[in-house]
Amino acid sequence: MFDSGIGGLTVLREARVLMPDRRFVYVADDAAFPYGAWEEPALQDHILGVFGRLLARHDPAISVIACNTASTLVIDALRKAFPGHPFVGTVPAIKPAAERTRSGLVSVLATPGTVRRQYTRDLITNWASKCHVRLVGSDRLASLAEIYMRDGFVDEEAVRAEIAPCFVERDGLRTDIVVLACTHYPFLVNRMRKTAPWPVDWLDPAEAIARRALSLLDPGGGGAEATERGDVAIFTSGKADSAARRLMHGFGLTVA
Ligand code: DGL
Repeated sequence: MFDSGIGGLTVLREARVLMPDRRFVYVADDAAFPYGAWEEPALQDHILGVFGRLLARHDPAISVIACNTASTLVIDALRKAFPGHPFVGTVPAIKPAAERTRSGLVSVLATPGTVRRQYTRDLITNWASKCHVRLVGSDRLASLAEIYMRDGFVDEEAVRAEIAPCFVERDGLRTDIVVLACTHYPFLVNRMRKTAPWPVDWLDPAEAIARRALSLLDPGGGGAEATERGDVAIFTSGKADSAARRLMHGFGLTVA
């Protein structure tokens, strides 16, 4: 389970429910956080390099890229670079949002990187051409989620300001769905609900991603090992502080 930080934990908790017998390696590429601010070619090279080392070391049955900012950029390149290894990506849930909206006004809340991606634009063209989709790139929410989960503090006014552009009123209609297109954001969803100008459906794809991973796994493999060894968390910086360790511990992960 791979992310730039703690966001992939929102997917891990769903995966655990669906695959209780599996063993998980959680990777937080915190040395490179936040991905949202990176230029595309540099980020692609970086993630391919990190994955080369991770796959050689851990040889997982499957890799889940629990990060929209990474998946929308490198999922195809990863599949090409490591043929035969199954990857599950996380991309903005634009198709289900387009199927569910009643007002036709949908917002996609993501990192600036995900908002810039051609992949994201193509999802809108292919699946939501009849909707009005507003892309909202947030500079701060992923970091706010990191602080909240480690230190228990969240600046509510900052959350309010970051989500405000998601709320559109047009011809008497209002945005009724906000796609949480960054895996960090579900950790802040209660604050988002509290500071939103009106109620909306906040779409979190974590369960769907976990189901996809389950569907690709061989039902027989991996279970025996899971009962013998615990789940681990890896921080690419090699410098997890005590708050990060405590958080991982709360998720049943031992920092390697
Ligand atoms: N959790 C990541 C995502 O889903 C992004 C956070 C970041 O590194 O900016 O996009």
